Parts: sequence; structure tokens; C-alpha cells
Amino acid sequence: MAIERTLSIIKPDAVAKNVVGAILSRFEKAGLSVAAARMMHLSMEDAGRFYAVHRARPFYGELCSFMSSGPVLVAVLEGEGAIAKNRELMGATNPKEAAPGTIRADFADSIDANAVHGSDSAETAAWEISYFFGQREIYTR
Ligand code: PPS
Repeated sequence: MAIERTLSIIKPDAVAKNVVGAILSRFEKAGLSVAAARMMHLSMEDAGRFYAVHRARPFYGELCSFMSSGPVLVAVLEGEGAIAKNRELMGATNPKEAAPGTIRADFADSIDANAVHGSDSAETAAWEISYFFGQREIYTR
């Protein structure tokens, strides 16, 4: 399988619960490496541009408010099949539907406060990574 990079965000609810390390540890145990990471407090504008693809959806405003409600950790994860592997580790968007043992099943409270974001395709990953990181901020093992 090809080595890929994907963008992960540990969302404000998970940062507030002090489970950043626990979540990163799950990525590492699954064979993914942290290639870049930064704590950030997104503005409404930052979140709005990042989630612009969801602009027409009814929850867009709520999603942007939540994502700018407190600090997040943005990270680039790297490894074999990183995009799908990260999505599998995260579990379903709605934690009530997330498989046992996934990050959302274990750490998320609701469909909006759902602990983590992960890129959903190679094209999205490339755009999302470049939204937060320059090439010189990303390290390969
Ligand atoms: S996904 O990840 O695109 O397949 O999931 P999707 O269901 O399309 O949701 C896109 C993002 O919107 C968030 N979301 C919501 N936020 C607030 N309220 C409601 N009802 C809601 N439904 C979905 C969801 O967490 C996704 O955020 P990210 O950060 O991409 O995971």
C-alpha cells in the first residue's frame, strides 16, 4: 500500500477533555506517524474557509462556531493507506453509530462535538494539509 499523508484535527471538545495524547497514541499504535502538528485557535473565518465545501448544509454555521470555540490540534499523519486508516480509527461521524473501540465511540459526545476530523480523499487531504502547513513544516521519518 502507498505511503500517504492526511490531515487530522483534534477538535475543541477533545482538547478540553485533555485526550490529545490518548488520540495521538491511537494513530501511532496503528502505524501512522505525526509528520506535522500545531495547536491553534481557529477564527470563524478560518473555520468557514476550511469547511466551505459544507457551506450549503444546515449545520454549517454551528460547525464553524464549534470549531472556533476553543483550541484544536491540527496534524499531518503519514503512513501506509493513511487516509482510510485514519477514517477507520475515527469511526462514524455520529458517535452513536461509531463502532466500539473507535476514537469517536470512546471520546465524542455528539455529531457536532465529535472529537476528530480526518480528510476523506487524497485530493481533499492535499488541499487540507496545504491549508494549515507549508512544505517546510512537514517532516518524514
Ligand atoms: S464527512 O466526514 O464529510 O463524511 O461527514 P459529513 O456527515 O458529511 O459531515 C461533514 C462535517 O460536518 C459535521 N457535521 C455536523 N456538525 C454539526 N451538526 C451536525 N448535525 C453535523 N453533521 C455533520 C461533521 O462532524 C463533519 O465534520 P468533520 O470535521 O469533517 O468531521
